[in-house]
Amino acid sequence: MLSKLTLSLAAFAFASTLSDAQKTPVDAAGHQWWQNAVFYEIYPRSFADSNGDGIGDLNGIDSKLDYLKNLGVDAIWISPCYPSPQVDFGYDVSDYENIDPMYGTFKDFEHLSSDAKKHDIRIIMDFVLNHTSPAHKWFQDSESSRTSAHRDWYIWRDGKAPGIPPNNWVSGFGGSAWQFDPKTNQYYYHYFAVGQPDLNWRNPEVEKAMFDVTRFWYKHGVSGFRLDAVDLLFEDPNLRDNPVLPGKNDFGDPNMENKYNDKLPEVHTELKKLRTVADEHNAVLIGETYTSNRDELKEYYGDHNDEIQLPMDFMFCEVNKLSPPDFRTQIANAESTGGWPVYVISNHDMTRSYNRYGDGAHNDQIAKLMAGMYLTLRGTAIMYYGEELGMENNDPVRKEDVKDPIGIAGWPNEKGRDGERTPMQWNDSPYAGFSPSKPWLPVPASYKTHNVAAESKDPDSVLEFYKHVLALRHHEPALLDGDYVALNQDNANVLSYLRRYKNEAVLVVLNMSATTQPMSFNLAEQGFSAQTAATLLTTLSSPPSRQLSSINMEPFSVYIAKVTR
Ligand code: GLC
Repeated sequence: MLSKLTLSLAAFAFASTLSDAQKTPVDAAGHQWWQNAVFYEIYPRSFADSNGDGIGDLNGIDSKLDYLKNLGVDAIWISPCYPSPQVDFGYDVSDYENIDPMYGTFKDFEHLSSDAKKHDIRIIMDFVLNHTSPAHKWFQDSESSRTSAHRDWYIWRDGKAPGIPPNNWVSGFGGSAWQFDPKTNQYYYHYFAVGQPDLNWRNPEVEKAMFDVTRFWYKHGVSGFRLDAVDLLFEDPNLRDNPVLPGKNDFGDPNMENKYNDKLPEVHTELKKLRTVADEHNAVLIGETYTSNRDELKEYYGDHNDEIQLPMDFMFCEVNKLSPPDFRTQIANAESTGGWPVYVISNHDMTRSYNRYGDGAHNDQIAKLMAGMYLTLRGTAIMYYGEELGMENNDPVRKEDVKDPIGIAGWPNEKGRDGERTPMQWNDSPYAGFSPSKPWLPVPASYKTHNVAAESKDPDSVLEFYKHVLALRHHEPALLDGDYVALNQDNANVLSYLRRYKNEAVLVVLNMSATTQPMSFNLAEQGFSAQTAATLLTTLSSPPSRQLSSINMEPFSVYIAKVTR
C-alpha cells in the first residue's frame, strides 16, 4: 500500500551565515553551530564524477551542492581526498595538506569551499591521525635508517627473536600488526594495513606536526574534523602482549582483547589538546569512537566537555534490528552522558541501514521509519550519502571483484566494504548518472527506481520523506531544543517519545512491527492535557484522527504530530 505524506510546514529561513557563526560561537538560543546542523558523509570516490574517469571528485561534489542544500544538509564530511596510494582508499595519506589528483586540485578544493560557503554548507575533513601511508615523506625518512630525523615518528621495535614480531598484536586488517623491514632490521607497527604505519603520538614532534595540519585546514575554511580511528592513537610503551580470547576472527587470527593498543587513557589527554586548537577556530571534532558502554562514550566528551563535541555513538548504530526496547536503552544511554548525543545509522564501514533494518518486503517503509526516528531525536544527526534514497548494499559475489583490502584478506567470511560504497544513484541512465564511464564499483540494480530524479517526482519516496523530516527538524523548536521524554516504555513494538519544549511538544510514534498497533496517549503527566494533536508528518495511509486516545499505527508506520498544553 502506498503511504501518503501529510506535511504542514510553514516557510522558514535559515538566518545565520557562516561568517556570522564564525564570529559568534553560540546562537541566540545558546547553541553551538554544530548542535542543530545535519551532517552528511560523502565518500568522494562514489558521489559524483565530473571528469568521466569512473571515480568521483571534488568538482562532482561542487555540482551537487544545490541538491544537498535542498535536501536539508548543513555540513558535509568528506572522507579522505588527500594524496594517497589508495591502499585503503584514502585512509592511507601521503600528504595531509593537498588533494589527490584523482579528486582534483587544491584550487578545486578552494572552489568547493567557497561554493559551499555560498550555500551555507560547512566542510568537515576526515583527519586520519593514527597512521600515514608509507609513501608519506615522514615515513620515507623514518624507514631510511635507525638514526633518521623521523625514526621515532613511527613505532619501530626489534623482533622478539629472528622472525618473531615484537608482540602478539594482530592487525584489524588481518595478520600480525608488525611489518619487518630488512633495511634496518626492525619491525614497524600498523594497526590497519601494512600500508598504514601508525604514528608515534608519544613524540611531541608528531603532535605538533599533526596539530599544524588541523591549523592548515582551519585556515582554508574547514569547520572541523572527523577523527579517524581515534581509539587507537596510543599503544602501551612496553608493548605487552594482548590477552588471547577463545576462537578465531574472520581473518583466521586468534581473537584478542585489545587491552594494550585500544582506548589507552593517553588518548583523552591528547584529545583535550586537539580540542583547544579546535576551539580557537570554533570548529567541531567528530569522533569515530567505537565504545562498548555508556561510560566509555561519556569519557569521550571529556570531564568538562573538553574533548570531542560529537563522539559517534556506534552502540546505537549497532542495534541491528527493529527493536524498540533496544533503541530505548541506547537513547537513554546517549541522553545520560551529559554530552550532546550524536546519531548515525550508516557509514562507509558498515552494511547500509536499508539492508540491516529492511525485512526484504517493506524496506522503503522501514527506511522512512529509521529516518523518522534518528532525525527526530535530541542531538546531531550524521547521514551517509544515498541513505536518503534507500540505497542498498551491492556486495561483491566473487573474490576477484573485491577492491577493499579487508575483503581481499578476509574472503569469504569478510566480504569487505565495497557493497556500501557504490556510486550515488542520481538517475536511471547507465551507471546511475554518477559517471559517463564504468564506475570503480558497480551500481546495484535497484538504481532504476531508487535514484534522485525518480524519487524527486514521487511524493511517497524515501527521498521526499527525508526532505520533509529534515525540514521539520530545522523548523520545529521542539525538535531542535526539546527534551527527550520516552513514552509507553513497555511497548515492545512501538517506539514513541515526546520532544518537549516550553508550551509545545512534538510526539513521535514509530511502529517497528509488521502488524497494526492501536496506540493511545495521555500526555497529562508530561504536562500536555490537550486530547488532540496536529499532524506534522506521517506515512499512515489515511489521515489520522486528531484524537491522541486512538491512533492506529499501520505496519512500519511513522506518525509525527504537534501537541500543545
Ligand atoms: C576508519 C575508517 C576506515 C578505515 C580505517 C583505517 O575505521 O572509517 O574506513 O579503513 O579507519 O583508516
